[in-house]
Amino acid sequence: MNVLVAGGAGYIGSHTVKRLKQAGHSPVIYDNVSRGHKEVVDILKVPAVIADLNDRATLVRALRDYKIDTVMHFAAYAYVGESVEKPLMYYHNNVATTVNVLEAMREANVSRFVFSSTCAIYGDPDKIPITEDEKKAPVSPYGRSKLKVEQVLADAADPKAWPGFSFAALRYFNASGCAMDGTLGEDHDPETHLIPVLLQAILGLRPGLTVFGTDYPTPDGTNVRDYIHVDDLADAHIKAMEKLQPGKPIYCNLGTGRGFSVKEIIATAEKVTGKKAPVTYGPRRAGDAIALYADPSRAKNLLGWEAKHKDPEAIIRSAWNWLKDHPKGYGKR
Ligand SMILES: NC(=O)c1ccc[n+]([C@@H]2O[C@H](COP(=O)([O-])OP(=O)(O)OC[C@H]3O[C@@H](n4cnc5c(N)ncnc54)[C@H](O)[C@@H]3O)[C@@H](O)[C@H]2O)c1
Repeated sequence: MNVLVAGGAGYIGSHTVKRLKQAGHSPVIYDNVSRGHKEVVDILKVPAVIADLNDRATLVRALRDYKIDTVMHFAAYAYVGESVEKPLMYYHNNVATTVNVLEAMREANVSRFVFSSTCAIYGDPDKIPITEDEKKAPVSPYGRSKLKVEQVLADAADPKAWPGFSFAALRYFNASGCAMDGTLGEDHDPETHLIPVLLQAILGLRPGLTVFGTDYPTPDGTNVRDYIHVDDLADAHIKAMEKLQPGKPIYCNLGTGRGFSVKEIIATAEKVTGKKAPVTYGPRRAGDAIALYADPSRAKNLLGWEAKHKDPEAIIRSAWNWLKDHPKGYGKR
């Protein structure tokens, strides 16, 4: 299939482009590289349109020129803290831009859509592991922007509104790790995700790491999260794309189903690197849920997908291998 990967120069998008290519599909990157990396286009050797998704004329032209069948939409802003400070910027780029993408698709007669949603739409869940039926109560503008897009998609998919439109909303847990073959990595600026921040601290690229809260009601007092390898996420997108069907919207959690505490991740990183992590322990941070991990059974039953890398050691090793080779990220070695 010809797949337009919006946000394909970013972290999860670039890994998905690679897997799409390996699976025999024809991905095209569409990215304004505001938060992505031009370098991945050279690494991946696929066609790329460097433009903003709000540039309707360019987007419609790309959809037509490359005879696109499916759009995978990774492009968004994704920092919870930034979304609290700049909610309008988040609603603009995450919601309004997505509406523009959908309108461009209608114009170009493209009707298959895979959307990057997030477990942040559940907020602080009543029950863990989290199923897709958990209440949707996001606690940040970021989470709310993603839930709004899910609502937009549900309305757009009404056969009276857009006959033939099909979509999947994939709710990722904590995307982590780097391509197992070492070709692609994680390079956010600023980096806020635990594993890269921890490994950067171990490598001496930042002074240290503060763990927020050691008195949570978890076995060791620190937060628990579900770390899902980015190659596994990428594979789930391909499975979801293959299952798209009008009238049958797909909503799936993408996680391993296993939760690991911050302290467990730190201990694993120390084992993988053979070095002590410079960690300080501070008070809780507002807005952090105690424990979040997925019930991944729907993705298994519906998509035939299951995470292959359930062991955080393998995930951390893949991130460590890339970071050691690219201590300053893409293009800045
Ligand atoms: N990283 C995670 O743990 C995680 C978890 C849950 C959900 N998600 C979602 O997954 C998606 C990808 O996350 P990521 O970590 O790869 O982010 P990322 O920032 O690395 O990638 C996003 C890409 O989109 C591009 N982009 C943003 N706005 C654009 C626009 N208007 N026009 C064109 N390009 C634009 C950026 O330049 C960037 O390359 C996001 O939608 C995010 O909300 C990520």
